Amino acid sequence: MTRIIAPGATIGVLGGGQLGRMFAMTARRLGYRVHTLAPEHDTPTGQIADVEISASYDDLDAVRRFARGVDLVTFEFENVPAAAAAAAEEHALVRPNGHALHIAQHRIREKTFLADRGFPVVPFAPVQTEAALTSALERIGRPAVLKTAAFGYDGKGQMPIGAGTDAIAAWDGMRRQEAVLEAFIDLEREISVIGARGVGGSRSCFGAIENAHRHHILDVSVAPSGVGPRIAAEALAITDGVLDALDYVGILCIEFFVARDGRLLINELAPRPHNSGHLTFDACRTSQFEQQLRAICGLPLGSPELIQPAAMANLLGDIWQDGEPRWDAALAFPAVKLHLYGKSSPRPGRKMGHLTALAPTPAEARALVVKAREALTSRQETDDNR
Ligand SMILES: Nc1ncnc2c1ncn2[C@@H]1O[C@H](COP(=O)(O)OP(=O)(O)OP(=O)(O)O)[C@@H](O)[C@H]1O
Ligand SMILES: [Mg+2]
Repeated sequence: MTRIIAPGATIGVLGGGQLGRMFAMTARRLGYRVHTLAPEHDTPTGQIADVEISASYDDLDAVRRFARGVDLVTFEFENVPAAAAAAAEEHALVRPNGHALHIAQHRIREKTFLADRGFPVVPFAPVQTEAALTSALERIGRPAVLKTAAFGYDGKGQMPIGAGTDAIAAWDGMRRQEAVLEAFIDLEREISVIGARGVGGSRSCFGAIENAHRHHILDVSVAPSGVGPRIAAEALAITDGVLDALDYVGILCIEFFVARDGRLLINELAPRPHNSGHLTFDACRTSQFEQQLRAICGLPLGSPELIQPAAMANLLGDIWQDGEPRWDAALAFPAVKLHLYGKSSPRPGRKMGHLTALAPTPAEARALVVKAREALTSRQETDDNR
């Protein structure tokens, strides 16, 4: 029998962003207490948590004190330093474990771990020296993508290497940080699979979600995805396999590329809830956040069933450019849900919130969510100046 962390217990979240916010909302709905630690003040997670600690992840004493005050620690931000995870592990259960986090935070470790176990990854080569970059280019060919090994998100720390690109200069632009060279894949589409694994090894995956990016940032996600049954089954089987290989407890998202030549390849892992899974909040019997909570607390996993086709559109700071978005215009669509993360400064490219739309078909859900987002910035053509 696994010991359960029952409602009433206190869960600590390392990280203060929107993933922690939606997790905290869910945990509080189920009667848990939530503490959060992040370097900033008044964070999206902190606004919902019972207790918000503002401290650097490198302040290991603060991390230890934080861990002593909770029953269980989890993450909403995967770039927490390994030392902070280890410090938390001295005083509390940490789920997912620091080992899984350590692998997922570094592209070379992640791809090597997966390739060694026979999982299909994008062809890659590690780049630590100029000589390694030259031989990587010979092996991988062009076009390719050069990515920093650590701390990338939303396409930051990436350079396309085309036929005429000076690869050494591109790497200089990354201040010669450790990097990985990947083959550039001719994409048919991108999908993600979010899977949960419980304390006793039980597993449950949400169906594949289809993702469209703009400027390397997730733009719109749709469920169910448009992939055929073979690819859908393969993606779920790979996710189950990776969850087991990592002896994982919690929520893991795998981003996949579906290549035009039919290959299904792992792009990367996210050891936490994922932006593409935000639609599960409104569209599934159990959201990814509730599934995370159930998994880490040793509770039975809930049904991931999609109740209705759904689409999610991210709201970036850009939509504030001409003033406050017209929330009423988006909410005039009765099947559209608005989520805002409580961030005060809407910088361009910053994820401020999202919209979810439910509809009878995925195509209608996508069209509806895009229309609702457009309505946010359409200027009223009424005679306001009367
Ligand atoms: N090798 C590749 N071939 C084709 N497209 C790619 C490749 N690598 C990245 N991309 C495109 O860039 C996007 C972002 O890449 P990646 O997921 O590696 O970045 P990231 O910075 O870790 O982003 P995030 O953490 O926000 O997902 C991918 O979803 C894909 O659209
Ligand atoms: Mg990605």
